Amino acid sequence: MGQEFKNHDMTMMFTIHDALRRSTEQIARITARTDEDPRQVLRTAVGWELFKKYLTIHHTAEDVTVWPVMRRALADKPDELELLEAMEGEHAVIDPLLADIDAALADRDAGLERLGGLTDALHTMLHNHLDHEEGEALKLMDITMSKEEWGVFAREGSTRVGDDARRYLPWLLDGMPPAKLTGFVANLPDALRTPYETEWRPAYEALDIWAPKADSAAR
Ligand SMILES: [Fe+2]
Repeated sequence: MGQEFKNHDMTMMFTIHDALRRSTEQIARITARTDEDPRQVLRTAVGWELFKKYLTIHHTAEDVTVWPVMRRALADKPDELELLEAMEGEHAVIDPLLADIDAALADRDAGLERLGGLTDALHTMLHNHLDHEEGEALKLMDITMSKEEWGVFAREGSTRVGDDARRYLPWLLDGMPPAKLTGFVANLPDALRTPYETEWRPAYEALDIWAPKADSAAR
């Protein structure tokens, strides 16, 4: 991104954003398919469930531990407050799209036409939001949040992932360019790297998260 951050390590933020971007690309590819009903694929593929869960965790962690903290610190700075409002507003538009898409997936009559419009909106709005956050808000987070506040945000994300690390970590790294992946994995603490390499990644690959399953076998 070519940005310099003075105070906080933004590696995880960029890593999560890129994983969310890759999922929306995959969702766009699925909804463009004509050989299979995209509703059947998304309704039953594990990937849609994982994407919803991890997008929600990431947004909620920011909604709870980033924007309110920054709003207090920047209370007398109207331009900065406007940016925070934009961030919260973008979350508030994107998050309900997940339930709207689920409604379209369940709708056997009009669902197919609705689905394409909704997944296009999700793709565009999420990409715009992530670009906006990376282009403007991360700089402001870096200079506004204290080390302790940044730690609270990082822990909020991991607490919400909780025992799901065995799915989350391979999902996060799925599709990461190989050169980057090697460095990322080498930097993981042993307690994550070893299970990731020996159990979590093979189990995740076996799940084939974007493969449609029979409806009855779903979840
Ligand atoms: Fe973010």
